[in-house]
Amino acid sequence: MALARTYAVALVGVHGHLIEVEADIASGLPATILVGLPDTALREARDRIRAAIVNSGETWPNSKITVGLSPATLPKRGSGFDLAIAVAVLAAAEAVPPSALAGKMFLAELGLDGRLRPVPGVLPAVVAAQGDVNTVVVAAPNVAEAALVPGVQVVGASTLTEVIIWLRGGPPPSLPPVPEPPAGPMPALAMARKIDLAEVLGQSEARLAAEICAAGGHNLSLLGPPGAGKTMLAERLPTILPALDTPAAIEVTSIHSVAGRLPAGSGLVTVPPFCAPHHTSSMAAIVGGGTGTVRPGAASLAHLGILFLDEAPEFHRDVLDALRQPLESGEVVIARSGTQAVFPARFTLVLAANPCPCAKANGTGKGACSCSPAARRRYLARLSGPLLDRVDVKVRLQPVSRQDMLYDRKYAEASAVVAQRVAAARDRSAARLAGTPWRVNAEVPGAVLRRTFAPKPDSLASLDRAMELGQVTARGADKIIRVAWTLADLADQPQPGPDQVNLAIGLWLGVA
Ligand SMILES: Nc1ncnc2c1ncn2[C@@H]1O[C@H](COP(=O)(O)OP(=O)(O)OP(=O)(O)O)[C@@H](O)[C@H]1O
Ligand SMILES: [Mg+2]
Ligand SMILES: [Zn+2]
Repeated sequence: MALARTYAVALVGVHGHLIEVEADIASGLPATILVGLPDTALREARDRIRAAIVNSGETWPNSKITVGLSPATLPKRGSGFDLAIAVAVLAAAEAVPPSALAGKMFLAELGLDGRLRPVPGVLPAVVAAQGDVNTVVVAAPNVAEAALVPGVQVVGASTLTEVIIWLRGGPPPSLPPVPEPPAGPMPALAMARKIDLAEVLGQSEARLAAEICAAGGHNLSLLGPPGAGKTMLAERLPTILPALDTPAAIEVTSIHSVAGRLPAGSGLVTVPPFCAPHHTSSMAAIVGGGTGTVRPGAASLAHLGILFLDEAPEFHRDVLDALRQPLESGEVVIARSGTQAVFPARFTLVLAANPCPCAKANGTGKGACSCSPAARRRYLARLSGPLLDRVDVKVRLQPVSRQDMLYDRKYAEASAVVAQRVAAARDRSAARLAGTPWRVNAEVPGAVLRRTFAPKPDSLASLDRAMELGQVTARGADKIIRVAWTLADLADQPQPGPDQVNLAIGLWLGVA
């Protein structure tokens, strides 16, 4: 009869917190008590763990068992504590030597038959344990993900029995050798086929807008008739964005892991994610939430990448409204029974819309749109307010003619070429913004923009005029200056000049 302890991890949002799991076996009436804020799933764990231990041929101690999870103040959710609790109980009963648990952490769900099951969020869990433990034990399908964290030895097992034999000094669980995680994006996020900006023919303004949006992190709206290439262009944005550096890749991969969207055996996500939720998506699917475990939504899955709302006016109004919070603060806060989950959600928003609800082309021919101007206005008005306010660059696409297409095939630039200019522009803005919390022009607050990064007055003459005419509000002026800076960065100029301010005004008004 003794006390044993080991470690597991609780996830709050996408961050892991090391949890000490203690099991105490005392004389008294047989009972199992869990203390330390367990949720329903954890309470169910008690019966599951007991069945797993018994079905693994071990004895469930017939005494008073107390399992404590500390710190008690942290919310603990999900089934990832099963294995840690099981080995702590077995060690307290001296069925395995308690000293064998030193320096180890256990992260897996147990099946009633003693099988180990993978759990979401292994990457942030191992990141949290780094430095405190030297070995992490996970279910076989989680091995590759756990192994992404340097400096921690990963042991993958398929059953509780394998873990027990190993803790008793026997051979470690023998798994097929862990494949090196593939470099680059994980399969689910990787492009289904290789896509390239060069495939978008004509549409030179829209292509330039995409480049500006990639270089400065500006939100973008694409308005145009069906078949003009709006969806095509948006999907190709990640191909011109710089790859994620390692801290960013760990953050993005953690979010996808917590969401349960990381396929077994995948590597770090290094390509900026592209997330295109359907317009029928629920609030929980877009901003996060859900019943039971709180999961990140599309806004967080798009963190440091692109959130694409195709056919944007068709989204539920309350969903569009809910995107205001992440657009403002770069994160989503979900309140749940006394606790809060915070998920990062700093994405570039790209909206696409047809100018009218019938989604037919303009013109007078057969099959052309015959909607009233009022109907068209009402349709687009669904976007105004909450979202269009946050869009710095608005483009109207025209249908591409066959001639344009044939002509452009020779000249359309490839993603690799554009990506180089984007990277160079980003380097310039990063150098200018060094020592500030901002990396791209779109992030610089208006006050700082006016105080520290104001263009020369003679560059701003046309902007002053547009403001006098009431075409541009003060808020619009800030956006225009941000975009003008991006244009200067793309042109390798130290300051935005009058031409860049003019173009930025056009892009903001949507008449470029
Ligand atoms: N600019 C373009 N260059 C080359 N192909 C194009 C272009 N625009 C459209 N296409 C072709 O038309 C198809 C449809 O384009 P896309 O889905 O991007 O249009 P869209 O503007 O999103 O239309 P919708 O409003 O109907 O969604 C593409 O798969 C492509 O084959
Ligand atoms: Mg489309
Ligand atoms: Zn119409």
